[in-house]
Amino acid sequence: MKQIALTGIKSTGILHIGNYFGAIKPALELARRYDARYFIADYHALNTVKDPAVLSHCIREIAAGWLSAGLDPEQVIFYRQSSIPETFELTTMLMAFTAKGLMNRAHAYKSAVQENLDKNDPDAGINMGLFTYPVLMAADILLFDADIVPVGKDQAQHIEMTADIAKAVNFNYQKEVLKIPQAFIQEQVAVVPGLDGRKMSKSYNNSIPLFAPEKELRRLIMRIVTNSQPVSEPKDPQSSLIYQLYRLFAAQEEQASLAERYRAGGMGWGEAKEELFRVANRELSPLRERFAALMADPAGLDAILARGAQKARPIAAATVARFRKAAGID
Ligand code: ADP
Ligand code: TRP
Repeated sequence: MKQIALTGIKSTGILHIGNYFGAIKPALELARRYDARYFIADYHALNTVKDPAVLSHCIREIAAGWLSAGLDPEQVIFYRQSSIPETFELTTMLMAFTAKGLMNRAHAYKSAVQENLDKNDPDAGINMGLFTYPVLMAADILLFDADIVPVGKDQAQHIEMTADIAKAVNFNYQKEVLKIPQAFIQEQVAVVPGLDGRKMSKSYNNSIPLFAPEKELRRLIMRIVTNSQPVSEPKDPQSSLIYQLYRLFAAQEEQASLAERYRAGGMGWGEAKEELFRVANRELSPLRERFAALMADPAGLDAILARGAQKARPIAAATVARFRKAAGID
């Protein structure tokens, strides 16, 4: 039997090429070897997104994003977190096994408290959704018997907490009620740099949206910050932001030949940006077309997610039943 891979993406904003190369592409690669269960973490998003129109649009955009990048809903169980009510039942059960002190140590919560240090109130702006975030995430994972959880490094702590909570449950009942998951962090997945050289992130306003129209894509690439080296001067590809982005989209031979042109001199940054635009647009234009078609049919998208939820719920229900039985409340 294949092992189970599970991951979620929060519907808090539009996808950028950092999400594509850092999360979506590697997860789709894993789906060839694992039984994959991928979902949209819309209740996690609710912690920060309070505008209903924005949230519902965002959910569809993330769904269309995965599908246009190649997710096959016949092969992957693909659903919305909010369609699985068992998630919230399991969350409540897990709360009983989660030390408050463990939640106090969660990075996201700690940094929110840290930001409040200069205010009189350490709890300012912190809702219970942020505080209990790791328990909801543990329920997402434990409900579906995940063996591995592909995530970025920033999420490693949440997976460790999930394993700790599950172990506390199993220890209490002296049996394997819940499967202990492991984070799957691919070291070779590069941190995709943004237009200003920092990590690409929607919080830094330095990202290239995955589905930017062609003109916008070109405009953003032309905005990449460069130094004042003249055209004739040889350039070092490895230290060039343009080249780092180029590598993500280009074939091996293309990478080698562009690196050669950098080193030979005679190529200006404008030309290097044109080359980057060409390969980026080559990969992204078919995705963009599929994305537009999916977004034009919201009922179709909703139907795909509803079918996914139908497949997911019996798995979730079995876990909850197992837990209730072990707990003496079946
Ligand atoms: P953002 O930083 O834009 O808010 P998220 O935290 O929502 O992005 O990330 C969603 C997924 O995309 C995570 O798995 C994260 O590791 C991955 N990811 C985000 N930005 C990058 C990046 N610049 N390079 C590689 N992976 C990234
Ligand atoms: N917390 C994750 C993030 O911010 C999203 C997420 C929610 C998740 N539930 C999950 C990821 C379960 C993996 C498994 O990126």
